Amino acid sequence: MKRKGEIGKAEGKLGVLIPGMGGAVSTTFLAGVEAIRQGLALPIGSLTQLGTIRLGKRFEYRIPRIKDFVPLAQLDDLVFGGWDVFPDDCYRAALQAHVLKPEHLEAVRSFLEGLRPWTAVFDPGFVKNLKGSNLKSQTHYLDLIEAIKEDIEKFKRENGVARCVMIWCGSTEMYLKPAGVHSSLSNFEAGLRNNDSNISPSMLYAYAAMTSGIPYINSAPNLTADIPALVELAEKQQVPVTGKDLKTGQTLMKTILAPGLKARLLGLTGWYSTNILGNRDGMVLDDQASFKSKEESKLSVLETILQPEVYSDLYGDFHHKVVISYYPPRGDNKEGWDCIDIFGWLGYPMQIKVDFLCRDSILAAPLVLDLVLFMDLAQRAEMAGIQEWLSFYFKSPQCAAELYPEHDLFIQLMKLKNTLRYLMGEDQITHLGLDYYHAV
Ligand SMILES: NC(=O)c1ccc[n+]([C@@H]2O[C@H](COP(=O)([O-])OP(=O)(O)OC[C@H]3O[C@@H](n4cnc5c(N)ncnc54)[C@H](O)[C@@H]3O)[C@@H](O)[C@H]2O)c1
Repeated sequence: MKRKGEIGKAEGKLGVLIPGMGGAVSTTFLAGVEAIRQGLALPIGSLTQLGTIRLGKRFEYRIPRIKDFVPLAQLDDLVFGGWDVFPDDCYRAALQAHVLKPEHLEAVRSFLEGLRPWTAVFDPGFVKNLKGSNLKSQTHYLDLIEAIKEDIEKFKRENGVARCVMIWCGSTEMYLKPAGVHSSLSNFEAGLRNNDSNISPSMLYAYAAMTSGIPYINSAPNLTADIPALVELAEKQQVPVTGKDLKTGQTLMKTILAPGLKARLLGLTGWYSTNILGNRDGMVLDDQASFKSKEESKLSVLETILQPEVYSDLYGDFHHKVVISYYPPRGDNKEGWDCIDIFGWLGYPMQIKVDFLCRDSILAAPLVLDLVLFMDLAQRAEMAGIQEWLSFYFKSPQCAAELYPEHDLFIQLMKLKNTLRYLMGEDQITHLGLDYYHAV
């Protein structure tokens, strides 16, 4: 791991490679980056662009912007390429996603029209409710990986790219249990030779990225790189890897509220969460196999934050239910209802209702930007393998096999900022405040 002064400079173009480039999250991210570059919008929601970091003691008043503190790629240096099962350019795809208004898309139209997805590696067995035509013709996994790598090399040549990061913004694939083929790199590579049915398309993209020396991020809940085989590959290739499932909408609210309830030692009898959404993601999640990936990812959050095994009187027996319903009239504007049953002093019950009328892709786009920039930083700092400090961004943060993930948003943020302080040779901030009691 390299630190201040040794970290490679963010010079030259950074290629952002996106499987699922024609989707709602991706096109909202792309349109937004271009609008920000043109001075038409602010990067709202982005920690790298708007966030600050306190350094040293409070009386020093050293609070730089994060982007001025750590060496991140500039937005003007980002170039984009990607794959999708639909051939539409990103302008048409963004119009169809119905996230951004046509008048906002018009301002960045020529940029988006210049982004056409390459043919995708796709297997309908993994995403049932999707039928596209922009597909690679090869069938053997090794040939498909080679084809992805050729796309990447061509893109790098044509755009004079210095470094790349890959971020999966593709549909949620069906739920996969870790199998023998995922357990080690040698098993996985044998599986590639045999077209093993436990290897999903997203794993082929991840394998192609890592073997090309490119960091890999998973925005979706699919298993993909959260398996020993691909963690081993990331370490072998010295590339960073992170995921899974961007923390937006309802889970974001959960990881804000649950630590607060626990901090006050208020008990919980139940948390009922329902969502209605009508975008393509919602349509894909209407299939039980894809929903199962999402459900697992959403359910684990409360258990880990509330620690029922430690606080059995408060959280030993709560009921947690998550429902997602595909409801086309709402499009990308999801409604997430939470009915939370809590209890306080002497066991008296209380209720909290949260009705979050959110915009999924509006919440997700700045996370994509931050992750791309931080993963490029991690690569230049030679931080290989799992990047747990980026848990802040995920519903199911990837962590070492022997650990449980950290879900508390505020602990995650502290970890992220302390990692940046460490990288830049600054003291960690503990909030201890010993100065009150004696001279230090
Ligand atoms: N929007 C959010 O807030 C949010 C939050 C967390 C996770 N996610 C996840 O991010 C992903 C993208 O979400 P979205 O709303 O943009 O969905 P979307 O359906 O609009 O976009 C997904 C895109 O991926 C493409 N695709 C599917 N399989 C592919 C493959 N094998 N190769 C290339 N392209 C492929 C689809 O054609 C589609 O264009 C989903 O998995 C979703 O669950 C989204």
